[in-house]
Amino acid sequence: MYSSSLKFLLPLLLLLVVPRISGDDGGQDDPGQQWCIADVQTPDDELQTAINWACGQQDVKCDMIQENQSCYQPNTTKDHADFVFNSYFQNHKNKGGNCYFNGAALITEQDPSHDNCHFEYLS
Ligand SMILES: *[C@@H]1O[C@H](CO)[C@@H](O)[C@H](O)[C@H]1NC(C)=O
Ligand SMILES: *[C@@H]1O[C@H](CO)[C@@H](O)[C@H](O)[C@H]1NC(C)=O
Repeated sequence: MYSSSLKFLLPLLLLLVVPRISGDDGGQDDPGQQWCIADVQTPDDELQTAINWACGQQDVKCDMIQENQSCYQPNTTKDHADFVFNSYFQNHKNKGGNCYFNGAALITEQDPSHDNCHFEYLS
């Protein structure tokens, strides 16, 4: 019993510890981290269609872009799409989801978080 739980815990511990050691790069973002945002070249109506689709999927935090929530401002379709695309991507990338949205999205290695609006990153 002791050794089987150790076998289970050890990889977990390594997962938790290793990124912290290698993540000490002087305050810059870990270069391995990726967020999904809207491509600025995508027209707003296409972004809105993608937002509407993503908000129908599981675990996409669309409440955050509602009025008075942390990610409502800036109140633009592009900013709202950034948040929703990333929320979809982070929560679906390990189960077949991607950062594509018919070409409306792209990957960035810079944390898009701003003000009180936190863009989650999940490993
Ligand atoms: C947002 O906050 C303002 C000011 O408190 C309030 O008047 C308004 O009803 C709120 N809107 C929503 C959708 O909660
Ligand atoms: C947010 O943007 C929408 C669409 O442009 C607009 O109708 C609405 O009045 C804006 N809300 C605020 C609080 O600026």
